[in-house]
Amino acid sequence: MHSTTSAALIGFLLLISVYFVTRRPKASSSSSLPLPPGPKPLPLIGNVHQAPKSHGWRAYREWNEQYGPIVHLNMLGQPVIILSTSEVAHDLLAKRGAIFSDRPRLFLATELALKGLNILMMNYTDQFRHHQRLQVSVLNATPAAAYLSVQTLESQQLLHDLLLGSSGGAGIDVQAPFQRTTASIIHTLLYGFRIRDPNDPVLRSVVKLNEEFSEFIQVGAHIVDQFPVLNHLPGFLAPWKATAENHYNTKYALRMENFRRALEDSDAWNISKQLKKTVEKDDGRDKMPLDELAFELGTMIDAALDGTTDSLVWFVVACITQGHQGFIAKARAELDAVVGRDRLPRPEDKPQLPYITAIVDEVLRWRPAGPEGAPHLNREETTYNGYRIPKGSVVVANIWTIAREEAVFGPDTDDFIPERWLDEKGELRALPAPAFGYGRRTCPGRYFARNVLWIIVARLLWSFEINAGLSEETGEPIPVDPEACTYGLVMRALPFKARFIPRGPWVREVITREGDTYSTDHTALLRQIGAEFSKL
Ligand code: HEM
Ligand SMILES: *[C@@H]1O[C@H](CO)[C@@H](O)[C@H](O)[C@H]1NC(C)=O
Ligand SMILES: *[C@@H]1O[C@H](CO)[C@@H](O)[C@H](O)[C@H]1NC(C)=O
Repeated sequence: MHSTTSAALIGFLLLISVYFVTRRPKASSSSSLPLPPGPKPLPLIGNVHQAPKSHGWRAYREWNEQYGPIVHLNMLGQPVIILSTSEVAHDLLAKRGAIFSDRPRLFLATELALKGLNILMMNYTDQFRHHQRLQVSVLNATPAAAYLSVQTLESQQLLHDLLLGSSGGAGIDVQAPFQRTTASIIHTLLYGFRIRDPNDPVLRSVVKLNEEFSEFIQVGAHIVDQFPVLNHLPGFLAPWKATAENHYNTKYALRMENFRRALEDSDAWNISKQLKKTVEKDDGRDKMPLDELAFELGTMIDAALDGTTDSLVWFVVACITQGHQGFIAKARAELDAVVGRDRLPRPEDKPQLPYITAIVDEVLRWRPAGPEGAPHLNREETTYNGYRIPKGSVVVANIWTIAREEAVFGPDTDDFIPERWLDEKGELRALPAPAFGYGRRTCPGRYFARNVLWIIVARLLWSFEINAGLSEETGEPIPVDPEACTYGLVMRALPFKARFIPRGPWVREVITREGDTYSTDHTALLRQIGAEFSKL
């Protein structure tokens, strides 16, 4: 055992030295402009020793304060560019989208664990654009509006579950009911079946796979990402091979099974069926194989689940920790005036409820679920504001910092202040919202996500007093730390308990009147969506 380890170590050191000795200097650049500023690098390793081990967005914010809106890092020779204002992110990633829309190669995550099939990690190629066209055809503003009935139904189920689950008690774990709700919305629309229980095996597999993937995608954490040649080592020296293969196989099986259920179970409409029809209409050499489509649908589930759920949970954190700002009272005054107390808010109320929309915008700004977005990569060298940005740089729009730019969002950007989204007349202002990324890689699920957040936020504010959970021993509230979060592709609040207390007797009455929704025929809603789609 011992000698195997040292053999591996020696082999590894050899590989590293071969790598450094044989690596040619980068193709000479056409420009003599300097690189953007950044922390001082060491020879060979560059800034590796300064790279934050976790919660990178916070360290990047400090660098941006010190060096300006464009920071350059050298990670073992790999240029990394960090952007921290709306203006530079927009100028580079959107206006120069033709060259800034690739993705870095993460060998383990992209090639081993997903075999190149995940749209999020694809380069800006024909295959990517084909996948993007399919996604946009079912996620853009107009198709997304057709899904409101299903989203509304699930928001009623959430209220019902919260009313039963947390009345009178010390509080409930917040993540589970919100995760069930998001999961059920997307599984109903994509595959035609609902998720009734937070412990549903399909949901648990998605969550487990997302956690594993979040691990694979950590930049710099996997030696094989720096040295793909290590993948030629035998399995016992390259344990990641089996883990990645297993990840792919589990994902593939889950996605094929869901796709099969979607096509077989009943006669209602669903997105699987819709996209299968679209793909079958294509002919010729770029026709997408059905298992690639099934994989694509699963990617939508993965991408939709965490960002949406985590944003809802951050809203609950805001209610508990930022409520002293008075935003809750203001929202309720608007809801009482527009909706009254005899019914729940509905999507049609949205134009009359700008303050609720401002709260949703503020949640996405205050705690952007993807605080570092997803890294872009530029396929050509370019110059900008007197600096040279080398070809093949990993370009990170640091959404966390961009969302805290006082020139755009006004003062106290670490605080939760929905008013910043409204003008003097109380109408919504068109501020550049960063939460969904930039340019040709902007999140295709943004309309969908905003609709889900809006109806749930409106209904929670209408229904409940949201407070911290109580300690079982002392009966005192357990403080919620609004900064405590995970580090990964998404920023998730650490587990906490909350109490959802009906604001008044009318709340219990309205929610129980509509009751549990599992006896509602959701396939009727899907058929109606299908009818709307056939008109698009
Ligand atoms: C609040 C919820 C969400 C947030 C904060 C969010 C955020 C993001 C961000 C920051 C990106 C990367 C953009 C870039 O590279 O510049 C992204 C990409 C993506 N999102 Fe979302 N997203 C959310 C919900 C959704 C939903 C509901 C779906 C699908 C139904 C979805 C599907 C995708 C896909 C497929 C991509 C990859 C796009 C590409 O690589 O070109 N997202 N999202
Ligand atoms: C995308 O293309 C670039 C060249 O522009 C390459 O360096 C990079 O590794 C590619 N990324 C993926 C995910 O294939
Ligand atoms: C999804 O839609 C198709 C076509 O309309 C249908 O055949 C299938 O049964 C639906 N799946 C579910 C689970 O409703």
